[in-house]
Amino acid sequence: MKSEAYLQCIIPSCGKKYDVKTTRTFCECGNLLDVRYKGSFRKELTSIFHDRRNPKGNIFNESGVWRFRELINFTNFDSEDYDNYSKVFVSFDGAEGRTRPYEMTKVAEYVGMPKENVLFQPEGLNPSGSFKDNGISTGLTHAKMLGIREAICASTGNTSASLAMYAANEGVKASIYIPKEDIAPGKLGQAFQFNADIYQVEGNFDEALKVVLEKGREGAYVMNSVNPFRLEGQKTMIYRALEHMDWEAPDWIVFPRGNMGNCSAFGKAIIELYEYGWIKKKPRFVSVDAKGSNTFYTLYNGLFQGEKLRWNNGNVNDELILEYYSYLDKMDIKPKTGATAIQIGRPVNIKKGLRSLEYTNGISVQVDEKEMEDGVAIVGSNGFDCEQASATCVAAIRNLVKEEVIKKDDKVIGILTGRLKDPQMIVKYHTDSSNRFANPPKVLYHRS
Ligand code: F0G
Repeated sequence: MKSEAYLQCIIPSCGKKYDVKTTRTFCECGNLLDVRYKGSFRKELTSIFHDRRNPKGNIFNESGVWRFRELINFTNFDSEDYDNYSKVFVSFDGAEGRTRPYEMTKVAEYVGMPKENVLFQPEGLNPSGSFKDNGISTGLTHAKMLGIREAICASTGNTSASLAMYAANEGVKASIYIPKEDIAPGKLGQAFQFNADIYQVEGNFDEALKVVLEKGREGAYVMNSVNPFRLEGQKTMIYRALEHMDWEAPDWIVFPRGNMGNCSAFGKAIIELYEYGWIKKKPRFVSVDAKGSNTFYTLYNGLFQGEKLRWNNGNVNDELILEYYSYLDKMDIKPKTGATAIQIGRPVNIKKGLRSLEYTNGISVQVDEKEMEDGVAIVGSNGFDCEQASATCVAAIRNLVKEEVIKKDDKVIGILTGRLKDPQMIVKYHTDSSNRFANPPKVLYHRS
């Protein structure tokens, strides 16, 4: 099956179109771009996706990203034409995206729901240990389409690990810009291990991203989530979740909020599937902020100047956002949380995120440090691991069940975005017996 893709400004009143063969990530009007596809897609594709789970030697069928290639086909190659698409698709030998939702009995009990109604999708099982591999595989594919041999990104550590890993495997150069402080040691280690060019920025993620976006304007290929081709790959997390539920949408999809790439990609997946008629219900999104880094929570819930920030058909109140950012600057307020992955004060995809929440009647909540740490521990007790940022989902679901916003017979999917790459965090947690799920070691004395 062939498709025809193009880029389009997300703001309906602009709607300017661009060829997919461009490195630009912003419209002339300054807003972000979407990848769009001409035509519609038949639901019969779902059985093709399913059949590919027997990959028959094709690594792109093994990949949980490329298995859904018809729905992300910005390369415009025929999806059955292996000889052609295999020249350009980037894959870690089929290893990315091999995830799906799981029942986690102890986590379900902790959040107060029957285990079959609340499922968690451990994206940490990806080769670089986070959901980023879903999108870096497609982002690098786009770069490869254009013959580009170097990509850059700003990162709190997982994007850089994923980009560095794929770049090493593809023989292209990765230049990564990471905050000097507040990066999990495992993530920093991956950047070194995969031999990226590392730039440490004095400042936080927001400042690192500023540097990278400037380089993007000068022509560098940017692999942050402003890259619309990267977000196409991240849609496949939703496809895998829905496939697991026989393409019946759940009531809720819950995920952490950082730069809002996932919120954007997940929303785009739902908008498209709903428009194609594949799903009849729109799941409600829950975007979760860490309390110490709660820009979105604050703006969405009208806690700054009283106005609730909304998509409003593309007429977003830019002034409100800018005033909030200058208030943060004036008061010298910086995001600060142990969930360093989502220590992000100025989510670059905020408008796409707002669009997703509007379409899905979504909500924005926040959780505190203890709740995230307990979340990491309870997920661990089910034999899975995740970092604090991912554990926001567990904490948020628990709170929303208590508040009866989420009902016990609702169906809920939580996206556990990444593995724990800061082992000291969990050692510290378990050796402090004041923690709820602490499991301190028993000391044995050796007598000679
Ligand atoms: N969870 C984890 C584990 C992450 O690493 C990130 C983002 C998020 C959630 C937030 O996702 O940006 O799509 O809202 N990490 C980025 C990075 C910023 O550089 O690794 P988002």
